[in-house]
Amino acid sequence: MNLNDSRILVIGAGLMGAGIAQVAAQAGHQVLLHDSRAGAAEAAKAKLAQTLEGLAAKGKLTPDAAQATLARITPVAALAPAELVIEAIVENLDIKRALFAELEALLPADAVIATNTSSISVTALARGMKAPERLVGMHFFNPVPLMKLVEVVSGLGTAPEVAQAVFDLAGRWGKTAVHARSTPGFIVNRIARPYYAEALMLLQDRAATPELIDACLRAAGFRMGPCELMDLIGHDTNLAVTKSVFEANFYDRRFTPSLVQQELVDAGFLGRKSGRGFYRYPEGAPALQA
Ligand code: NAI
Repeated sequence: MNLNDSRILVIGAGLMGAGIAQVAAQAGHQVLLHDSRAGAAEAAKAKLAQTLEGLAAKGKLTPDAAQATLARITPVAALAPAELVIEAIVENLDIKRALFAELEALLPADAVIATNTSSISVTALARGMKAPERLVGMHFFNPVPLMKLVEVVSGLGTAPEVAQAVFDLAGRWGKTAVHARSTPGFIVNRIARPYYAEALMLLQDRAATPELIDACLRAAGFRMGPCELMDLIGHDTNLAVTKSVFEANFYDRRFTPSLVQQELVDAGFLGRKSGRGFYRYPEGAPALQA
């Protein structure tokens, strides 16, 4: 199986979907971008136009390549057939399953469905699908154009050739792909959860401020501290991931969600994407570039 020349439908034009669309289009694919929120795919494309212009201005891309990349991205109001679908919608098992049922009615029999889920079991997501062997995890990291790693996650029913085709595609896009099994949090999020959890406990104990925690971890050699990283991920998504990993580990207390996180979500302080999280982003989220 070879996905190198595939037309790609990216579903969800939020933080991750927009980044995935950019990377796929830069690699030469025709990309359809869909979001259930009216206008969201168009808004994501407009933002990508600015990003690509910025890259061209810095000499990281020729102006022609920037134009051509943008021209390969088409916002679509409805789901449309493609050889590869990359799903990057809200982190919710039932909503993702309902989407896959809709997709199966529409897609050619040999089309691959890749999910960017951070934490939900690929095995569980495939339950109820007519062809569970075509579902695979393709877990990118944020921000997608900068982060090299892609976890290619196989559920119990995933066909090895499907996982391999997605693995090869990620490599072709300049990413470092790894095969992972569908265990809770896969590899990176399993390790990252306690990193966030300890920072959240320090905050709950009023032992340190977000500024102090981040400064310490950066000085210790991490590229970002946990609080600024949670602001980047989005507290709604991060809380959903925490809850999912907690549940999937049979409520192991090491993965207990935090009230601090819950409060930020209740307040709508979702991080960079909403203009406020632990920190304020008055001018909107500053672009993160290499
Ligand atoms: P986001 O909240 O920025 O974007 C999600 C988008 O999906 C929204 O625009 C929403 O309107 C759209 N959407 C929701 N339900 C939909 C449906 N049924 N059909 C079409 N569009 C729908 O979320 P983000 O951060 O982009 O996350 C998306 C997925 O990627 C989640 O599964 C998340 O766990 C995963 N992920 C997130 C990372 C992060 O750092 N934020 C990192 C890696 C994976």
